[in-house]
Amino acid sequence: MSLKIQTLSGYFHEYQKSVLNPEAFWERIADTFHWKKRWDKVVEWNFEEPKIEWFVNGKLNITENMLDRYLYTAGDRTAIIWEPNDPSEEVRKITYRELFDMVNQFSNTLRANGVGKGDRVIIYMPMVPEAAVAMIACARIGAIHSVVFAGFSSNALADRINDCKAKMVITSDGNFRGAKTIEVKKVVDEALEKTETIEKMIVLKRTGTEVTMQNGRDIWWHDAIKGHEGEAQAESMDAEDMLFILYTSGSTGKPKGVVHTTGGYMVYTYFSFLNVFQYKTGDVFWCSADIGWITGHSYIIYGPLLAGASIVMFEGVPTYPNPGRFWEVVDKHQVNEFYTAPTAIRALQAFGQEPLEPFKLDSLRVLGTVGEPINEEAWHWYHDHVGKGKCPIVDTWWQTETGGILVSPIAGITPTKPSYATLPLPGIQPVIVDNEGRELRGNSVEGNLCIKYPWPGMLRTTYGDHERCKQTYFSSFNGYYFTGDGVKRDEDGYYRILGRVDDVINVSGHRMGTAEVENAINEHPRVIESAVVGYPHNIKGQGIYAFVIADLDDRTVQNLTNEIKVTVNNIIGPIARPDKVQIVPGLPKTRSGKIMRRILRKIASGDTDNFGDTSTLLDPDVVDKIMEGAREIDQ
Ligand code: WTA
Repeated sequence: MSLKIQTLSGYFHEYQKSVLNPEAFWERIADTFHWKKRWDKVVEWNFEEPKIEWFVNGKLNITENMLDRYLYTAGDRTAIIWEPNDPSEEVRKITYRELFDMVNQFSNTLRANGVGKGDRVIIYMPMVPEAAVAMIACARIGAIHSVVFAGFSSNALADRINDCKAKMVITSDGNFRGAKTIEVKKVVDEALEKTETIEKMIVLKRTGTEVTMQNGRDIWWHDAIKGHEGEAQAESMDAEDMLFILYTSGSTGKPKGVVHTTGGYMVYTYFSFLNVFQYKTGDVFWCSADIGWITGHSYIIYGPLLAGASIVMFEGVPTYPNPGRFWEVVDKHQVNEFYTAPTAIRALQAFGQEPLEPFKLDSLRVLGTVGEPINEEAWHWYHDHVGKGKCPIVDTWWQTETGGILVSPIAGITPTKPSYATLPLPGIQPVIVDNEGRELRGNSVEGNLCIKYPWPGMLRTTYGDHERCKQTYFSSFNGYYFTGDGVKRDEDGYYRILGRVDDVINVSGHRMGTAEVENAINEHPRVIESAVVGYPHNIKGQGIYAFVIADLDDRTVQNLTNEIKVTVNNIIGPIARPDKVQIVPGLPKTRSGKIMRRILRKIASGDTDNFGDTSTLLDPDVVDKIMEGAREIDQ
């Protein structure tokens, strides 16, 4: 297909066209889809309000471009290959026609249960095909889905339900995760005690865990869908109608509901998927992310299914029942493109090459990474031992807010360099600015990564609070979208992402706001104040280090630190549990009361050589005391 870049010079050519005439560039791609009504204008925008509209007045339904489009030409092609948590359980293969039927049936079910266009639906589910069906069915009837990662606590779930005033929750009785069974419905029941908007809960039977069903509110999935077979009319959506809300952490305490809309997101996820991975019809594509994250939305569900791809959906974890599981799945389903997170690669690398030995891995053609910087060692291990030196690695940089990959090699075409995301995709205009907002031109520069022109997949607002969207992304540097990441452009013009420059840390590829973790810690009745920073962690990339001022009362330090960890676990979920908690007599603060995180970050990373100027601190001695305590923690 001509939308696919074939050569390096082809990439540069497309890139140049996309900058000189973005409207013509994107229009050509959008024209390959089915629209119920064509747009009047390709883009309308300003980054001041901000207002971003793509394919203005276009009408479409994204699911017609994922399912109906393939029904008659490729209805028997496999859409989803489902690999269960337990390798001895049967694999499920679902064709495009079957997926179409399942989505239609569930769309009818949603409508019959009072869900319609514009309503918000929470999906809190394991990695099973029904989760994909639930998402796509929402899109078909114009309901706005908000998938919440099923590892979040009931509190975190309740916050999200309340923020978007959701009408329905779709969940399961339990989830299998490695050797564990998690009682998911219980978590939802607890959350619903703190919310008032949910009218119905649809519960998929997955584990057989005993649950209590509330009469009139809770319905089993298998009962709910009965009698709802048959085609469900696809709602006509404006290109700028909301497709979904996905909550993500930022530098303030409360997660934001990032909003993506229909038309632009469709065009962008499809285009980026096809090009970055160089997907060919018939290939098997596997992205190991969870659908609770943006990677799962864009590169398990939307991008690949828009491209008519066959995807692997994996319910389990990389190390269950053994650390060879990923490679076993690659061989079993003859995966051609594999997309995972550096943290998973590092975790598997720690087991050495032995778990790889029984497997051929000769179906693999492209390897991808996402979510955090990949260190050179992990890059080489992935390249040499998984890809056997034959598969290009696409180190893809992007964010929940960007909707799709923005900076990445085009597989097999862009020459790669370990730990570099390399070059922007066509249509993406990155700029590097210094702290005063001055653009740093040319190569060999380092600074804050911004984007100066809109692209179809970008966020439009933060749900219910447009001002927050403006403040967070469009106010730091005038006229630009600010990513929150630091970046270097090297002598070849290649981009290397240096990590966050705000108070966001990246733990195992998951974004955590330090303020969010601090808020959770401060809920413990003995805690007076806390400061959370990230520190380098061998497997997770960054670990969570909490410095806490607390009143021990009759507790031992050990007991209190454990209680604090449990508190965070309960309020946010296991992913936010601090790796280290240090009880401190004070925090390094300036006279105006600002915590000097720079100093805490250095202490947490064991770098205690040069703190710079500490004379402005209210109590300079506190730094020595914290350092002493930190040494004890490490022992
Ligand atoms: C980081 C995940 C380095 C970055 C798709 C970004 C990366 C944040 C890379 C977004 C990469 C993502 N190299 N860092 N290839 N990809 N990041 O919203 O700090 O969960 O701002 O989206 O992850 O995380 P999010």
